[in-house]
Amino acid sequence: MKLSKRLQAIYDLVDEKAIVGDIGCDHALLSCALVLNEKASKVYACDINEEPLQQARKSIQYYKLEDQIEIIQCDGLDMLPSDVDTIVIAGMGYETIKSILDKHPEKLKGCNKIIIQSNRDVEKIRKYVSDHHYHIQSEQCVFDLHYYQIIVFDCSNDSELNKKELLFGRRMIKDNVFLQMWFSNLKKYESILGKLSEKNEKYQIIYDIINQIKEEIEV
Ligand SMILES: C[S@@+](CC[C@H](N)C(=O)[O-])C[C@H]1O[C@@H](n2cnc3c(N)ncnc32)[C@H](O)[C@@H]1O
Repeated sequence: MKLSKRLQAIYDLVDEKAIVGDIGCDHALLSCALVLNEKASKVYACDINEEPLQQARKSIQYYKLEDQIEIIQCDGLDMLPSDVDTIVIAGMGYETIKSILDKHPEKLKGCNKIIIQSNRDVEKIRKYVSDHHYHIQSEQCVFDLHYYQIIVFDCSNDSELNKKELLFGRRMIKDNVFLQMWFSNLKKYESILGKLSEKNEKYQIIYDIINQIKEEIEV
């Protein structure tokens, strides 16, 4: 099975023999790949909606993985069993991810890895992790038609992130994809700034971000 680059990057972050909660599993492609390749020993494929779960059921039946993938229809972590050691929450927006994380902190604490890929507002995810003093294990950028950032954390205690870390990450792999993503963001911010009057309240904010990006990627 061929995963998209984004899902492959998430797959690669899962530890061998993990017991995974794939929250918002949709088609369950990640769940199936994890079990098919014997990366995960068990996956709970969870989704709030019936329609994606019908698709998930088809994928699981197609690959004959019913013994190792259990489908659960629930909101976030509501019905996630306690043997899960790895949670994946991918392909959702910040508000949904926040509400899922907020509801069951005790389930997060029982995990070795919480892998988050928010489609937007990644700085807000970092702020959330920082405000809770959670520990970021690793971060990386992936380009798969869009730029995505993946954050892996656990609930061990860590210091709050500073302003620069909130924007660029604390344990980010600063590879070419990272540089290209911020170069692309820089061009977008410069274009926005070019259209704003200096009197606009957002001018200084965007001006400051541009300077931070230039300093970070040294352009
Ligand atoms: C865009 S899909 C992402 C699928 C997959 N995780 C990925 O990254 O490709 C988002 C999925 O999250 C599900 N979802 C949205 N809110 C949810 C919630 N509170 N709890 C569980 N699933 C949720 C949706 O039904 C949908 O199937």
